[in-house]
Amino acid sequence: MTSRHDSAPLLVIDDLHVEFDTGGSTVEAVSGVDLEIRAGETVAVVGESGSGKSVTAMAVLQLLGNGRISGGSVTWDGTDITHASNKKLRSIRGNDIAVVFQDPMTSLDPLYSIGNQLSEALRLHQRMSRKQARERAIELLGMVGIPDPAHKVDAYPHQLSGGQRQRVMIAGALACTPRLMIADEPTTALDVTVEAQVLNLMRDLQRETGVALMLITHDMGVVGEMADRVVVFYAGYVVESGLADDVLNHPQHPYTQALLTAIPRRDTPRDEPMPAIPGTVPGLHEMPAGCRFITRCPYAAERCSEPQEIVRLEVAGKQRDVRCWRADPAHRTSATIESELEVL
Ligand SMILES: Nc1ncnc2c1ncn2[C@@H]1O[C@H](COP(=O)(O)OP(=O)(O)OP(=O)(O)O)[C@@H](O)[C@H]1O
Ligand SMILES: [Mg+2]
Repeated sequence: MTSRHDSAPLLVIDDLHVEFDTGGSTVEAVSGVDLEIRAGETVAVVGESGSGKSVTAMAVLQLLGNGRISGGSVTWDGTDITHASNKKLRSIRGNDIAVVFQDPMTSLDPLYSIGNQLSEALRLHQRMSRKQARERAIELLGMVGIPDPAHKVDAYPHQLSGGQRQRVMIAGALACTPRLMIADEPTTALDVTVEAQVLNLMRDLQRETGVALMLITHDMGVVGEMADRVVVFYAGYVVESGLADDVLNHPQHPYTQALLTAIPRRDTPRDEPMPAIPGTVPGLHEMPAGCRFITRCPYAAERCSEPQEIVRLEVAGKQRDVRCWRADPAHRTSATIESELEVL
C-alpha cells in the first residue's frame, strides 16, 4: 500500500467547479472539489444525497448534459483533460477509465444479447475480430462469476438477475482493461448478499488487474471494507479526506462524525428506520457563505460564517484534510474536537 501512495496520482481533480443551467438561472452543484486517485488505489466517495458525488464523477469525462466545468481542472495521467475534445474523452473512456452506473437496466440495451454488447465494445476499442470478441466476452463473463458463460453470453439483459446484470456491467467495464473504474453506487439496487458478492468480485478483480477504483457509496461499512482512502462530500464540496480506517475511527469534521452515526451499515437490517442527521442539506440556491454545515452543526460559532478553507493536519501520523477552522491546531487540538464530539 505504501508504494501506491508514493506513486504519482493517475487522476487529479483540483478545485473543481461545476455549473448547471436550470430554467433561466445557473446553479453551482460542485464548488471546489479536490480529489486524487493513485494506481491500484480504492478511494471511496461518501456524503448525503445531493452532495455532488455523481456530478464530480461525471465531470471527469464531461458527462454533464446541461452542465459544464466552470472552474478548476481534471488531470489524467499527467495530461489536463478539463476541456478535452469529445474524441479524446471517448478514447480515454474506451481505454483508460470505465464507468459503472447504479442501475444496469439503464446502461444495458434490452434489444441485444449481453454477448453482443460486450463484443461490440471489444471490437470497437480493441480491434478484435468477431470470433475473438465473442471468446473474450465469454472469458470476461466467467471472470465476473456468471455461471455457464458459454451459454449465458447469448442471454438478453431481462433474462438475468439484478446481480448478474451488475456483473455484466463490470465485465463491460473491464473489457477495455481500464486503469481506473468509476463506480457510482454499483450495488445499491442489490440485496445484501448479492451486494457482498459483487463487492468481493470488484476487490478480486482489482487484485488481479491492478485497476484503481473510485467508489461512490452511501454505506460506511463498504468504505471500511473496500477503501484505502475516503473523501467526504457535503453540499458540493469536500469536508474531510484521509485514510479510510483513520477517518472512520477518528473523524475530525463534525459532519463526518454525524454521518458515521447516521449512515446505515451493511450489517444493520434494512427494514430498521434509518437514523438521520437533524436538519437538511441547504439547496443550491441557499448555500451559506461560510461553512455549509453551519445550519446543522452543534458547534456552530460566529467564525463559521466565514468561508472555510481546508486545514491540512496530521492525525495519528497520517495526513488529514478537514474543512473546519476548529481542526486547525493553532485554534484547538484535534483531541479537543474529538472529545467534544464524543459527548454528542
Ligand atoms: N442536470 C442537472 N441539472 C441541474 N442540477 C443538477 C443536475 N444534475 C445534478 N444536479 C444537482 O447537483 C447536485 C448534486 O447532485 P449529485 O447527483 O452529484 O448528488 P449525489 O451526491 O450523487 O447524490 P445521490 O447520493 O442522491 O446520488 C444536486 O443538488 C442536484 O440536484
Ligand atoms: Mg449520485
